[in-house]
Amino acid sequence: MTNLPDVEIGVIGGSGLYSFLDDITEVPVDTPYGPPSDALLVGEYAGRSIAFLPRHGRSHSVPPHRINYRANLWALRSLGIRQVLAPCAVGGLRREFGPGTLVIPDQVVDRTQGREQTFYDGIKRSDGAVPGVVHVSLADPYCPAGRQTALAAARSQGWEPRDGGTLVVVQGPRFSTRAESRWYSSSGWSIIGMTGLPEASLARELGMCYTPIALVTDLDAGVEAGEGVTHDEVLKVFAENIDRLRPVLFTAVKSLPSERTCPCGDALAGQETGFDLP
Ligand code: ADE
Repeated sequence: MTNLPDVEIGVIGGSGLYSFLDDITEVPVDTPYGPPSDALLVGEYAGRSIAFLPRHGRSHSVPPHRINYRANLWALRSLGIRQVLAPCAVGGLRREFGPGTLVIPDQVVDRTQGREQTFYDGIKRSDGAVPGVVHVSLADPYCPAGRQTALAAARSQGWEPRDGGTLVVVQGPRFSTRAESRWYSSSGWSIIGMTGLPEASLARELGMCYTPIALVTDLDAGVEAGEGVTHDEVLKVFAENIDRLRPVLFTAVKSLPSERTCPCGDALAGQETGFDLP
């Protein structure tokens, strides 16, 4: 690909997070996996260049199970990005993870189905490349340096973020039944969302750092005795918190290390990818 700007940090998240940035350049990117959710919106903050990618598209038209996660991660990497921050809305699976809690999880469980999970699928690509057989470790799914940066950023902005916890990612787009939700919480999992995988594992497959910043918008159906979670509730609580969340994100952007010392970039060491990474 030619004429793409060189960008340092990627943010996969909603419009409320970037709309106030001046001088945004819209950069359409195509990938061997098709188009990402939207054009990348490239700007600068505190001397760091950032690309925002609205996960669901700018008009919020792409549901979680139809997001082209491979295209999204590939597009970010093709701008040179190696570090990704991933703000997202989640439900709480225990009372202590109530609405308005900020969580930097340290583990994730996959309950999705039928999503394209890997770049190394053994299928010849349209450019003729045949992906290698690659197995990355996801034992620790998130960037340790990114997690510490996000926690420090949140604390500096007056939050008391939860350090750790397990995110279970469900297929959606429906919310969980009470029985499913009770099962998840009795398994010891803390929060529930619909987009965290394969986003995190695909980032790892490209040797990128990935850090989720999860805002709890509701208590999931198994925790709450009421009507169960609604989309309106999720949107309302996210909107109520966006002005507090934005400075966390931008403080994290400013403070991410410019030289990586974490192991994320070594995820592919010694493995034959079968094609050049962008
Ligand atoms: N995103 C926000 N709240 C959620 C919930 N309760 N379940 C799944 N995804 C969510």
